Amino acid sequence: MTSLLRLGGGLVRGGQRGTLLGARMLHVSSRVDDIRAAALQKTLTTAPKALVAKEKLVFGHTFSDHMLTVEWTAKGGWEAPQIKEYGPLSLDPSCSVFHYAFECFEGLKAYRDAQGKVRLFRPDKNMERMNHSVERLHLPQFDGEQVIECIKELVRTDERWVPEGRGYSLYIRPTVIATENTLGVHRANSALLYVITSPCGPYFPTGFKAVSLYCDETNVRAWPGGVGNRKMGANYAASVGPQVEAEKKGYQQVLWTIGEDSELMEVGTMNLFVHWRNEAGEEELVTPPLDGTILPGVTRDSVLELARGWGEFKVSERKINMKQIARASDEGRLLEIFGAGTACVVTPVNRIHFKGRDYVVPLDPAHPESQAGPVAGRIYKALMDIQYGDVPSKWSVLVD
Ligand code: COI
Repeated sequence: MTSLLRLGGGLVRGGQRGTLLGARMLHVSSRVDDIRAAALQKTLTTAPKALVAKEKLVFGHTFSDHMLTVEWTAKGGWEAPQIKEYGPLSLDPSCSVFHYAFECFEGLKAYRDAQGKVRLFRPDKNMERMNHSVERLHLPQFDGEQVIECIKELVRTDERWVPEGRGYSLYIRPTVIATENTLGVHRANSALLYVITSPCGPYFPTGFKAVSLYCDETNVRAWPGGVGNRKMGANYAASVGPQVEAEKKGYQQVLWTIGEDSELMEVGTMNLFVHWRNEAGEEELVTPPLDGTILPGVTRDSVLELARGWGEFKVSERKINMKQIARASDEGRLLEIFGAGTACVVTPVNRIHFKGRDYVVPLDPAHPESQAGPVAGRIYKALMDIQYGDVPSKWSVLVD
C-alpha cells in the first residue's frame, strides 16, 4: 500500500514527472544521462512496519520501510531515482541476472551518534568500488556523489530504523543487476540500481568474539585476472560450499589461500591482517596487496591508514604465506590475526587449521580473557569512535 507524498525540496510526487524547486515546478525528462539526485521522486508507504527490538536483530533479516530504485536502458540512460515502499521486484524468469550472475553490490552503514544524528562512513569509497565492479560486468557506471545524495534521502526517509548504540547500525546494501530478458551472453541493454537497508547488530551471532579458520587448499576464492577485486555476488555464492565444509570440520570461517605456498588472500568475507614479528625481527602489520585478487575493502583501507598514523610498527601491503605463519607460530612470533570488513568491522582469529595441524593464534597476551588482540581491539575502538561521531573525522559524513 502506498500514498503519494512529497518531502523536502527537489522531490516530486510519484507518477508525475517534474521537480519542485522552491515554488516553481519545472518539467524535466524522466530520463537523464547520469543519475541525478535532484530528479528523485518519492512515494511513501502508508503501512509502516513495526520496528524490531535491536537486541533481537539478526544480521540481514529485517528490512526498513522503503527502498531506492533507479532504472537504466542503453537507449534512454538513467531514469529518475525513486524512493518507494520496500517490496518484491518483478523480473522475468529470462532476466539476465538469474542466468549469468550479472550482479554486484556494496555494503555500508548508517550510525546514530550521541547527539542522535545519523552518519555514513566513507560512502565515496563504496561508490568508487561499485563503479569498478559494474565496469567488469559492462553495466552502466554512474556519478557516485549523486547516488550518495539519494542514499542520504533514503536514510532520512527511514531514519527511525537507524538503531541507537555502539555496535548497532543501519546496514545499507546498494546493488546493480542486469535486467534484460534474453538468454544470449552479451552486454546488457537494461539494468537496475537499487538500495535496501537493514537494521543490524553484530554480523556473527557470537558477537565480537574470535573465530577459528580452516585453511582451504582445494578451493580458490579468486585468481589473477579474475574478479576477486570486484564486489560481485558470484564471488560470495561460490564461497558457501567451502564455508559449509569448514563448518563440518569444526571451524567457523574459511582462510582463502592461493598457490603452492598457500599465499594468504582473505578470511571468509573479510580482508585479512597479520600482526607478527617478521623474519627480520620487526613488529609488523601485514595485509595481502591489492594485486587484483583481493577485495579493496573500505575497512581494510581505514585499518592501514589508522595503523600507519600511529607510527608504532611497520605496516605493509605484501604477500605472506601460510608456511611463514606456521613457522612464526612455532617460534612464538605470531602476535595476532584478524579479519576486517564493513559488516563485521574487525573479527579476531584464535586458531587456524593448516595441513592437519591447528595453529593457535594468540589474542591479547596482556588480557587473556579478551576476545581481541591488541591491534584488533584498538582498531575496533578507533573505527567506532569515528563511525559513531565521538572523534571528528573527514571519513564520517553527516546525513542531515
Ligand atoms: C560487508 O562487509 O559489507 C560484506 O560485504 C559482507 C557481506 C557479504 C555480508
